[in-house]
Amino acid sequence: VGNGLANTPQMGWNSWNYFGCKINEKVIRETADALISTGLAKLGYRYVNLDDCWSEVQRDSKGQLVPDSKTFPSGIKALADYVHSKGLKLGIYSDAGAFTCAVRPGSLFHESDDAKSFASWGVDYLKYDNCFNLGIEPEKRYPPMRDALNATGHTIFYSLCEWGVNDPALWADKVGNSWRTTNDINDSWASMTETADINDKWASYAGPGGWNDPDALEVGNGGMTYHEYRAHFSIWALMKSPLLVGCDVRNMTAETFEIISNEEVIAVNQDPLGVQGRKVYAYGPDGCFQVWAGPLSEQRMSVVLWNRCSKSGTITAKWGTLGLESSTSVSIKDLWKHEYVSQNSVSSFSARVDAHACEMYIFTPSTLSRSTY
Ligand code: GLA
Repeated sequence: VGNGLANTPQMGWNSWNYFGCKINEKVIRETADALISTGLAKLGYRYVNLDDCWSEVQRDSKGQLVPDSKTFPSGIKALADYVHSKGLKLGIYSDAGAFTCAVRPGSLFHESDDAKSFASWGVDYLKYDNCFNLGIEPEKRYPPMRDALNATGHTIFYSLCEWGVNDPALWADKVGNSWRTTNDINDSWASMTETADINDKWASYAGPGGWNDPDALEVGNGGMTYHEYRAHFSIWALMKSPLLVGCDVRNMTAETFEIISNEEVIAVNQDPLGVQGRKVYAYGPDGCFQVWAGPLSEQRMSVVLWNRCSKSGTITAKWGTLGLESSTSVSIKDLWKHEYVSQNSVSSFSARVDAHACEMYIFTPSTLSRSTY
């Protein structure tokens, strides 16, 4: 991509999952305020990203994109200035087609003009969608915007939203900082688990500079239970997915805040090694007892025991499936209970996990000789 961004997955907020088209500059400013006042900004949630519906339905007489005069009367530059004054960054949205999905003007064949507009407004991030694409391959439509953004001389994060069309993991690392591997998520257990499984297939292609994107978070939007949302957040973190909160952060419940503010889980997502964790083992009915794991810096490992069955059960992670030598002794930190737990078998670890819940850990192996002292 050449912009030097995305050493770790992007973190922030996106307007679509909760607000859809019902956005305006007041909501966005209040969201920026809330990211600061709740402390989420300090935890890394820095991008405040507008999604579809920020613009007028027509370009102006000079062919330029213009913000909707009713909902964004002060314009995007003023909004960017406000967001920047809080130490945050502003993201915007357009489409690699004739129109956006909500039928606002698209940027296909307007890449240079639109990139210049975004840069002149001080925008820091572009999500680039795939509607009304005239049947042209995404490999042809997405690079021109990368080149247009780079040509502005401003550093702009480039997030591809091509819905997984033509297996972007295979080509998009040269184009954008992240690429969508899936269709749109919705606020349900079925959608969340399916999205996770599709994203998992592309694990080996993610890394610093370019990440698989299984879509923004639904945590806090009401369609899943506390434990389902906790699993959603844990798995997104382990998969090195973008952590873009998709709820109304001005009105969060304590449970929502507890989930998205878990510093140790965020640290797994932002670990400098940048290797996407994956489903390493699934067993039981329909493979609903699952072990997900991935390497972290300093020889550590993140491990999630995820119970996707409809009743509680005990899930076992065997050292063999984690790539650990048998008899290695491991120190185990529970990232949701915030305490160390003891390794309860010689070459495996087991925990009771409620239906649809997960437990998440950091494993730090110590050498055999050390463990005998
Ligand atoms: C598509 C994208 C979504 C969202 C909407 C907006 O469906 O995949 O993420 O941006 O468009 O219209």
